Amino acid sequence: MASVTSLSDSVHQRLAAALSAAVPQAGSADPLLRRSDRADFQANGILALAKKEKANPRELATQVVSRVESGDVIKDVEVSGPGFLNITITDGAITQNLAARYADDTGRLGVPHAEHPGTTVIDYAQPNVAKEMHVGHLRSAVIGDSVTQLLEFTGESVVRRHHIGDWGTQFGMLIQYLEEHPHELDHKADEVSGEEAMSNLDRLYKAARKLFDADEEFKTRARRRVVDLQAGDPQTLAMWQKFVDESKIYFFSVFEKLDMEIRDADIVGESGYNDMLAETCRLLEESGVAVRSEGALCVFFDDIKGPDGNPVPLIVQKSDGGYGYAATDLSAIRDRVFNIKANTLLYVVDARQSLHFKMVFETARRAGWLNEDVKAVQLAFGTVLGKDGKPFKTREGETVRLVDLLDEAIDRASAVVREKAQDLSEEEIAERGTQVGIGAVKYADLSTSANRDYKFDLDQMVSLNGDTSVYLQYAYARIQSILRKAGEARPVAHPELDLHEAERALGLHADAFAATVAEAAAEYAPHKLTAYLYQLASLYTTFYDKCPVLKAESPEQIENRLFLCDITARTLHQGMALLGIRTPERL
Ligand code: ARG
Repeated sequence: MASVTSLSDSVHQRLAAALSAAVPQAGSADPLLRRSDRADFQANGILALAKKEKANPRELATQVVSRVESGDVIKDVEVSGPGFLNITITDGAITQNLAARYADDTGRLGVPHAEHPGTTVIDYAQPNVAKEMHVGHLRSAVIGDSVTQLLEFTGESVVRRHHIGDWGTQFGMLIQYLEEHPHELDHKADEVSGEEAMSNLDRLYKAARKLFDADEEFKTRARRRVVDLQAGDPQTLAMWQKFVDESKIYFFSVFEKLDMEIRDADIVGESGYNDMLAETCRLLEESGVAVRSEGALCVFFDDIKGPDGNPVPLIVQKSDGGYGYAATDLSAIRDRVFNIKANTLLYVVDARQSLHFKMVFETARRAGWLNEDVKAVQLAFGTVLGKDGKPFKTREGETVRLVDLLDEAIDRASAVVREKAQDLSEEEIAERGTQVGIGAVKYADLSTSANRDYKFDLDQMVSLNGDTSVYLQYAYARIQSILRKAGEARPVAHPELDLHEAERALGLHADAFAATVAEAAAEYAPHKLTAYLYQLASLYTTFYDKCPVLKAESPEQIENRLFLCDITARTLHQGMALLGIRTPERL
């Protein structure tokens, strides 16, 4: 095992030991350790313990201090204020610890796996067939992708499910139209680009809609098609498949632009649960979880009422026998729990669907499909707003096409890259522009906590100063350039050297990567990782201002500083990868 115990964990262990030695009757007490500005760490746990033991906190603190094992790791412990402990780490321990991370040949920087990994099914990146993708789909894809990387990094096995909207009444209309205009989607899949695929679908959709609204007889034929589709009529299914295939061409082109790997096998849309729907309803009805109400199969909840005070049910089956979104989601739960055998079902879905999921999860709990051992969580995300603070729309009031946004981000980023570029070719500018632009969009999305709305502001996103991915990418590229310029000098750790204040701060923060990743994964909170990385880059900037690297005093000093540069770069690289963002070697 190449995993490395972090300094904060080592200090924690030593303090916990001193605490229980000082107060044996208390059992194991938490020293409540955190990073501090005054010393390297501060422990606040003595206050609570003293209260519990009815002891004087400062006296207790003094006793604890006398029992702390200091030396290799802890340089100094002082009592401060009402009974806090200020702890200073030795310079050697900081360097040694980082050296151990650096030596981890698995590339994980010594980050351990979670103690009890399980299986998570993550439901994310779920656009709808025959429809344009919009910014909401962007959020689900970006957040879901990062959470997937984070979970896998901690050792969780993650099963991806892209629950695309590929079923429902609108397909009756589309299929009927295609049947009557058979050459509209006649081409081989590899002959069309994503853009063309979308415009084909868009044209078809509009034409079908027009006919549907104008022609009663077509309407009737379209409705009959829905029945054929749900009954599995082969010819109808074959035409439906054409819409799905055409849409996938489009989806994949957008995911590719997003620099995101989505696998076909993981796309299991609403249609994928069609065979389970009747059984799901039967199980719910037989167990009494769902009841018939005005012909529909419904689940009622005490705490969910409409504006008129009447209960709002979850409708599992409509009175005409049709199944909707809820039936599909409940069937998906059964599949994920009983076939995939997941412990956690995670849904990265817009907060506007929270009521739906609340009702679906509660229904599944009543049915016994979810319980103590299998939990379901909606990672609900907020709305993307325009600069004016209102939901993001075009000037004409239409939803903004995701591809247009991404293209604009790439254009802006390319302009920034071009301006700063010194020795980059046109081709390189285009490639970096894409990596910077897509990175900017992802980072802006990930750096606010998911449940909050955020403003889509491209000027801010591609700014070189501030909490942006470009800032982090430049920090990384600058380090690479220093490493290239170092010539013969190599990064080598020298634990015998004293460290500058800025080196200590950088080193201690680099050591906290493991704890940050664990926390971000456990809480499904990529924004904790972005905040960490931003601080890492800022501390690096201070270090670089204060401590000459290639012009340092001695060859050992040069090597040690190159080593600090390199471990910072590796941490940035790994951290950004967990966010789905590239770190180009040159910018
Ligand atoms: N396709 C839906 C939409 O675009 C999102 C699906 C979310 N996942 C689910 N299991 N219901 O809003």
